[in-house]
Amino acid sequence: MSAHQEKVCENNIGNLDVYKSYKKSPYLSFKHSSYFQVYADLFEKYKDKYITFVEIGVLNGGSLFMWRDYFGPNARIIGVDFNPLAKKWESEGFEIHIGSQSDSIFWERFFNAVGPVDIVLDDGGHTFEQQIITVHNCIPNINDEGLIVVEDTHTSYFKSFGYPSKYSFIEWTKKLIDNINSRFPSVKVSVLQYNKYIYSITAFESIISFKINRKKCFENESTSNDGITSNAADFRYEGSKIANINIFEQRISKILNWLKYISIIKLIKNKLFESVKILLTKKELIKLKRFF
Ligand SMILES: C[S@@+](CC[C@H](N)C(=O)[O-])C[C@H]1O[C@@H](n2cnc3c(N)ncnc32)[C@H](O)[C@@H]1O
Repeated sequence: MSAHQEKVCENNIGNLDVYKSYKKSPYLSFKHSSYFQVYADLFEKYKDKYITFVEIGVLNGGSLFMWRDYFGPNARIIGVDFNPLAKKWESEGFEIHIGSQSDSIFWERFFNAVGPVDIVLDDGGHTFEQQIITVHNCIPNINDEGLIVVEDTHTSYFKSFGYPSKYSFIEWTKKLIDNINSRFPSVKVSVLQYNKYIYSITAFESIISFKINRKKCFENESTSNDGITSNAADFRYEGSKIANINIFEQRISKILNWLKYISIIKLIKNKLFESVKILLTKKELIKLKRFF
């Protein structure tokens, strides 16, 4: 057994259907070994379904055959590449579109021609611009319960691609995490509009997957099951300095109520205590520094 085969056994990828399809493909394809488990986790439920699957990056055609074998005959497999020679794979029954993934006009024409799709896998040029423009343009054209999966996101850490940069793909993904959290009513840290489409973001080593589902992207609100309460105290701040401040605040509130003070004083008191608690919280957070 070769050293490569031994690694395949050791990592348990040899038994994955997607790896078998990769090995079966008659044409050359290069994929990193950790990707097969991720493909299996993300794509399993789409097998044998009537899906439209798009891969950006055709090169020697090997992955087109792999995807056809893996997803089965019901899947429509579309390849995108900047290299016009990729057109030759049309004779094998694949749909091929030639253009640059960093060109928004290309994407407009592409989706006008092919319609909405279920999965987009970006294995193209892997620059930050290509990755960001691709995700930006594909998201509105992906069906609910579909995915856009970006490979080789390790380029965000490569000096040759511009690392360190606040405009890397991974830095942008962090902004999108802020954006989906901005569906929570009091969190308005991001005004980007992706959170109307992206239900969840999953980060793997070298791969980011965005799950699209417009119906699951609603504004969050509190609910109650109207069950019986035991009026249990919330111990969130128990043992911290904030617990003492809370007790002190309750006493002041009682006195203010008793003296029937006008609401402006209550308002000032609330603001004052809020500021003190924020300051204290920030001070206490410094002890988390060791986790960062
Ligand atoms: C890593 S290879 C694809 C490998 C293929 N998916 C496989 O597994 O065998 C990258 C491909 O992306 C294409 N590419 C590079 N820049 C591109 C761009 N801006 N738009 C579209 N395709 C691009 C290249 O021509 C090349 O064929």
